Amino acid sequence: MGKVIFNGHIVDRKKALIHIEDRGFQFGDGIYEVIRVYNGMPFTLKEHIDRLYSSAQKIYLEIPYSQQEIMDLIINLLEQENASTCNLYLQISRGVVPRNHVIPKTASPTFVSYLMPGDRPVNLMKIGGKAVITEDLRWHYCDIKSISLLGAVLAKKKATDAGCLEAILHRSGIITEGSSTNVWIVQDGKLFTHPADQFILNGITRQKVISLLAINQLPFAETSFTVEQLQRADEVFLTSTTMEIIPIVEVDGVKIGSGTPGDITRKLQTLFEKEIEQECGPF
Ligand code: PDD
Repeated sequence: MGKVIFNGHIVDRKKALIHIEDRGFQFGDGIYEVIRVYNGMPFTLKEHIDRLYSSAQKIYLEIPYSQQEIMDLIINLLEQENASTCNLYLQISRGVVPRNHVIPKTASPTFVSYLMPGDRPVNLMKIGGKAVITEDLRWHYCDIKSISLLGAVLAKKKATDAGCLEAILHRSGIITEGSSTNVWIVQDGKLFTHPADQFILNGITRQKVISLLAINQLPFAETSFTVEQLQRADEVFLTSTTMEIIPIVEVDGVKIGSGTPGDITRKLQTLFEKEIEQECGPF
């Protein structure tokens, strides 16, 4: 994985050097996407690029490339890197200017994208993982996929310190999302996930699951739920690009349902795999 996209060109990784006054480096002033690649093909690429543009617009950043140019560069990189199953990271920062909080009028954004190794977490998908619940101390622009991730990093530390996979976050007792995932519960056959507002990132995986639920006429609501509802839920699962659909079988040391992945979670995993195979070919 020796090549990267750097400001519109594919170059050797060694040549992609970031300036010390890049605003991404100094202010966390930038946005990003993580895109899953299966069999060398990007999954839900257009959706990710749309969200990238939406994040850019929300931070007043004009991307100096068209959507098509970015997608062509990505396809080109995947070919040159002979990609199989991995993750593609893509980041745009506001660019290089002398340090000043004021958004510069003239800076030219720094664009970086490269492949990261990453197998599907098949074991976790099968047996499920554990989570802790902790207060959501992040800001109120969680709909922006911002590279300022300290809030998420500190929350994830609570999970790893407790030997858990994820930190599930709440604001005043209402579950928002995970530190890097969306959170779902199943209660009496119906699925719930937090509405797509400023308190969560509207995950591409989340949106795909919603479309699968609608197509398969499975009852769901984009309605928030409390910590207690999650603790009492029949099933809990997480969704994200890198994790797909991961059952959560224990929260704060207490079993969810029977303590094993639930039927609806497993059904959704199968439906989701079919989607991947349709777009990117069989595993
Ligand atoms: N994280 N919520 C947050 C806070 C996230 O950071 C992510 C993704 C998600 C799920 O979104 P999606 O389904 O589009 O991946 C929800 C990525 C994978 C990351 O930061 O690595």
